[in-house]
This record gives sequence, structure tokens and C-alpha cells, in this order.
Amino acid sequence: MHLFAHFSRFCAGFGGFMSKNIAIFASGNGTNAENIIRYFQNSESVNVKLVLADRETAFVLERARRLNVPFACLDKAAWADGTVVLSLLEDKGIDFIVLAGFLARVPDCILHAYPNKIINIHPSLLPKFGGKGMYGGHVHEAVVAAGETETGITIHYLNEHFDEGEIIVQYKCPVLPQDTAEDVAKKVHALEYEYYPKVIGGLLSEVC
Ligand code: GAR
Repeated sequence: MHLFAHFSRFCAGFGGFMSKNIAIFASGNGTNAENIIRYFQNSESVNVKLVLADRETAFVLERARRLNVPFACLDKAAWADGTVVLSLLEDKGIDFIVLAGFLARVPDCILHAYPNKIINIHPSLLPKFGGKGMYGGHVHEAVVAAGETETGITIHYLNEHFDEGEIIVQYKCPVLPQDTAEDVAKKVHALEYEYYPKVIGGLLSEVC
């Protein structure tokens, strides 16, 4: 205990000198996953070690293959149970999990194994336009239909409830009267690409 306390302080003092292994969970196209992989490609402190998906048609799997990142797709039953997911994470020595357009529920055993070490990005300013069914394009359509004048992204820790974990940071962009849902999606994606990797890097330099 005593030794561990010293070790933790030592790590904190150096901003975390050991490299961290991250896994990305995604369900769809995977443009954020690719952006994160590329951002850390030459990093000495962060390694993207694994991409996991929950549907075989997810294009993120092809992106991972092209970028030489190990990947796997698990079926609904495996995600519901969590045992196989956990053993894959352990095999790769994963320290931190990043959700990038992942739509399934993360099993409790993973939440418990990675307390405050799983983050999600949501394409709105939570708590607005969050919750079940609010993902991807549906969010932007709802933002335009509601006549919002601004929207943005929320990066938050994951808990048992969709989009309700502690908020880490939000970034905003304007919604103009003539904007379509596609226009809003472009602005929101631009914020995601700019900030998600930086926030991940910042968080990882704080955890030992
Ligand atoms: C992103 O905009 C992400 O914020 C959103 O899905 C999109 C995935 O795009 N996530 C959610 O809606 C989660 N509720 P990508 O597959 O191109 O990265």
C-alpha cells in the first residue's frame, strides 16, 4: 500500500511516464476511430491496440485493417455477456477505452473493470438531444427541427445510463437558420476530429 502510494505519486509527478494502451469501440463508419488512430500513430505515450465493433458491416473494421490495428467484431450475445470482450482487453493490456460512434451497451463487467477509464463522444451539447435513439444523424435532425442556434459535442465518462456519465468537456458551434442536418453534421464532425484526440491525450497524461 505504502509502496503503491509512492509509485502513484511518482507517476503523477512525471505526468505518467509509461505508455498507455487504448481500445476503440465503434459501430459504424469509423471516421473518428481513424482520426484517433492516425493522431497517435507516431506517439510514444499512446498506442491504439485494438478496435472492437458490434456489427460485421461496420466500415470501422476495414479502416482498422488498412491501418494495421488489430480488430474484432463480436456478436450481440458476446457484448451482452462481456466475458470475451474483457479477455480481449486484458490480452492487449488495454488501459483506457474510447467509444467513437459505439451504439451498443457496454457490459457492466467492463464498466467495473475500467472505472473512469471509458469515455464517449456525443454529437450534441448534453443533456440536450441525448438518450436512447439519439445518435449520429438523428441528433442533427432533431437539433435543426428544434430551431437550435447552437450545438456541439460532449465528451463524457461512461456510466450505466446512455449519455448520462460525468461531462469532461463540451465544444460548441453555431447552427444557422438555413443549415440542414447535413450542414450541422459537418460542423460537429469537424469539432470531433479537432478535439477528441487532444482530450484523449490530455486525460491519458493524467492517469498513471
Ligand atoms: C459521431 O458523430 C459520434 O459523435 C456519434 O456517432 C458518430 C460516429 O461517426 N456518436 C453517437 O451518436 C453516440 N450516441 P463516425 O463513425 O464517422 O466516427
